[in-house]
Amino acid sequence: MILLVNGPNLSQVGARDPLVYGTQSLDEVMAGAREEADGLDEFTSESEGDIISRLHAARTDGSEAVVINPGALGHYSYALRDALELLSLPKVEVHLSQTPARESFRRRSVISPVVDVTITGAGAFGYRLAVRAARHLTGKG
Ligand code: DQA
Repeated sequence: MILLVNGPNLSQVGARDPLVYGTQSLDEVMAGAREEADGLDEFTSESEGDIISRLHAARTDGSEAVVINPGALGHYSYALRDALELLSLPKVEVHLSQTPARESFRRRSVISPVVDVTITGAGAFGYRLAVRAARHLTGKG
């Protein structure tokens, strides 16, 4: 199963800065992702530690790939980077917005060097693309 992780403040999309993140709720965004997968294991948390613990669990729980929108953690969390680095599964990073075109602090991702694919700027469709990429990397799509 593909594990899809949403980090801090993603739970608020739809209400949050709709010009940047779109008007769909996270559940609506996830509905598109679900359509691309043969079952999706979903984990949404505002907490860095809980996300890291979930990634540790993914080492042994049969997860086949990880899709992660780390939210702002992706710009600075070396702890998240380390957790992803030690997870030897296909990993896809996705951001709704075009982070390289935004404020300077959003232009850097500290997790991009330890994932296989990064998708930015495609909005909700990016979640579909991310799941497709994860399936492709597992050899199942
Ligand atoms: C985001 C981009 C991040 O810079 C921001 O902190 C988010 C959402 C995106 O999906 O575009 O929380 O990851």
